[in-house]
Amino acid sequence: MSDTLSPIDTAKFVAAKKAMDYVEDGMKIGLGTGSTAEWMVRCLGELVREEGLNIVGVPTSSRTAELARQQGIRVISLDEAKWLDLTIDGADEFDGELNLIKGGGGALLQEKIVATASDQMIVISDVSKQVDTLGAFPLPVEVIPFGWQTTKALVEETLVAMEVLGHQSTLRMNGEAAYVTDEGNHIIDLHLQRIGNARQLALVLNQIPGVVENGLFIDICDKVIIGHGDGRVTIRDIISGEESEDRVEFEESENIFADLD
Ligand code: A5P
Repeated sequence: MSDTLSPIDTAKFVAAKKAMDYVEDGMKIGLGTGSTAEWMVRCLGELVREEGLNIVGVPTSSRTAELARQQGIRVISLDEAKWLDLTIDGADEFDGELNLIKGGGGALLQEKIVATASDQMIVISDVSKQVDTLGAFPLPVEVIPFGWQTTKALVEETLVAMEVLGHQSTLRMNGEAAYVTDEGNHIIDLHLQRIGNARQLALVLNQIPGVVENGLFIDICDKVIIGHGDGRVTIRDIISGEESEDRVEFEESENIFADLD
């Protein structure tokens, strides 16, 4: 890796590192997906290896499962865990009520199931994901492959009656082929620009046949840790309404960076 982490990587890393304050011995932890969550899995792995922390992880994607195992974290399925103490994950957008858009990395279905099955969900993020109103980031909707074009048309028709600015949708691609999720489904990204009533939209989308789940996480996240490029972190708790600031000190010679290039 380079001698100096970029400000964006520093922000993601310090948010992930700060989240370790909420991890306790014996916990069952949901492991999110994405570049910020990868930092969290690395931090957790360090705690397991160097401090002998006894935790188990339930990953939200095959990518995260692989990284967690590499990091020495014991991985179990959600069915084995049944219920989790804590889930730590990234987000594509979060608003003032800590409602989220997730699924930019294609793992929204497992992410939503795992976060919902947790006593607490902490989102780790850099400040760029903070918005006044959700919707600038395209909203991912997971659909089954059967009849996906009909499902897409139904979704677009439904959007006309919703409080959104844009009504267009696109099938997510992976090169020349449709993107396929860990569950074998496709993703339709909704280009809404602004979502006036996220709660209503989340409910209505899931009524459409062919839709498996949408990337709106409403009333699921409890706390957000926002990392900044200078090492500061802001912690916002939706239940207590409190906001606090801290600083994460670290050396780039730490083992956690050793296998990065
Ligand atoms: C994965 O499906 C997503 O929900 C991610 O949590 C989200 O896209 C954030 O990813 P980054 O941390 O890479 O921005």
